[in-house]
Amino acid sequence: MADFPARAVPAHVAIIMDGNGRWAAARGLPRAAGHREGAKAVRRTIEAAIAQGVRYLTLFAFSSENWQRPADEVADLTFLMKHYLRSELDELHARGVKLKVIGERERFGPALTGELEAAELKTAANTRLTLVMALSYGGRADIVQAARRAMQAGLKPEELTERNFAGFLSTEGIPDPDLMIRTSGEERISNFLLWQLAYAEILFTPVLWPDFTAESLAAALADYATRERRFGARPA
Ligand code: IPE
Ligand code: IPE
Ligand code: MG
Repeated sequence: MADFPARAVPAHVAIIMDGNGRWAAARGLPRAAGHREGAKAVRRTIEAAIAQGVRYLTLFAFSSENWQRPADEVADLTFLMKHYLRSELDELHARGVKLKVIGERERFGPALTGELEAAELKTAANTRLTLVMALSYGGRADIVQAARRAMQAGLKPEELTERNFAGFLSTEGIPDPDLMIRTSGEERISNFLLWQLAYAEILFTPVLWPDFTAESLAAALADYATRERRFGARPA
């Protein structure tokens, strides 16, 4: 049954990291510069999440629709992900971060796919923060592959429940997000965690992702703490 008000600190924060291109455009810089600056915000946000006691942090870094961007931008983003992983993995590991990748990682090619898998293995036993990176992720694709897996597992229609279906999603074992933040002023879900966001508190902030700081996260958590989560029930 629901317990309200919201727990003081959300166990799971999910972020749509948006606005890198506009951040760069405002400075007359190429979009790639915005993505590079965005990677620094990723680092800050992970540190801040750990400091605040968040247990799960999901970052939407590349959507299944982002493949429609020009090839050079996709290449810049792929390069950045590889570079980020190589330069940050040891520190993430030392900080007790467990990495989990959701989405169609294979689409980035065998090199990055292999490195992501190795990073997951290396950090598998860490418990301080689970960092879920959504890469080539689409919420609808996640639901469709879950349906396929349920059928492959031989489940009869009447055996399917919300609980066991959730276990076929890419987020199996990870609690649903309590708070979903989208930066850059856009107010939409853009095919992020469609199933998992059913009862998330949502916060839209005008801050562009490269400008997101520990203070931005603290402000979002403070806002979250004032919310009353009812889950369809009635306040006491
Ligand atoms: C977010 O920034 C990064 C990705 C979607 C990969 P954008 O690149 O979408 O930046 P804007 O929305 O054009 O400002
Ligand atoms: C959503 O941002 C995806 C990520 C942040 C990775 P987009 O910039 O791709 O979303 P739309 O196209 O504005 O909805
Ligand atoms: Mg965008």
